[in-house]
Amino acid sequence: MKNNHKIIAANWKMNGSEELIKEFSKFAPEKHNDIIICPPFTLLDSAKTLLPSFIKIGAQNCSEKNNGPFTGEISASMLQEKSVTHVLIGHSERRTLFNETDDVIYKKAEAAICSKLTPIICIGETLLEKKANKTLQVLDYQIDGSVAKINPHEKFIVAYEPIWAIGTGLIPNENEIKETHLHIKTKLSQNFNTDIPILYGGSANAENCSQITSIKNVGGLLVGGASLNQHDFLAICNC
Ligand code: PGA
Repeated sequence: MKNNHKIIAANWKMNGSEELIKEFSKFAPEKHNDIIICPPFTLLDSAKTLLPSFIKIGAQNCSEKNNGPFTGEISASMLQEKSVTHVLIGHSERRTLFNETDDVIYKKAEAAICSKLTPIICIGETLLEKKANKTLQVLDYQIDGSVAKINPHEKFIVAYEPIWAIGTGLIPNENEIKETHLHIKTKLSQNFNTDIPILYGGSANAENCSQITSIKNVGGLLVGGASLNQHDFLAICNC
């Protein structure tokens, strides 16, 4: 099975501490995958200072605005000043709990790109949509709304995260991952020439990571829960 260079992104969500950052300070995977850790905003400085320099630092969200009277918001340019290189955009928790629409997600991705950050734009279907055989339709709709208008010369990453797989221990079977990733790749190729990396996310862990990353068109993983344990995350980064 082919297993090339992958992107492994850690989404710490609203978890983590200075202690956890320190635990990762001697993190030393053997494989040369691209590793991105996305801690909460308050840990970005410590992450930059304490994590090994090969680890890129990502944020979990940014405002679509650049500055102004938006209490509680953080702009992409502010993140860039903190040496952040990547930002998660449109994670399903942002879409469902914070009512982010595809249009808002597109604007956030644009704001990130304007500040020279690489957005990791998340898409994925609910269990209800999957059961109604609407997965590919939902992905098309989300890509049309949140991705397709990005300038084709810009750099970005797409993360396919079936919502029913996030934090549940459930994952799609190999054929399902193959089908969705091929579909996303084909859909993106209508607007973009370059190979956009397409990550898989949702209950990825140390046991299933090699199998998932060996599936065609899977460019890497977006890992939630398992990224908070450095032994598990090390195994994932070595897959
Ligand atoms: P999980 O989360 O790996 O804990 O399922 C993934 C994510 O929400 O990005």
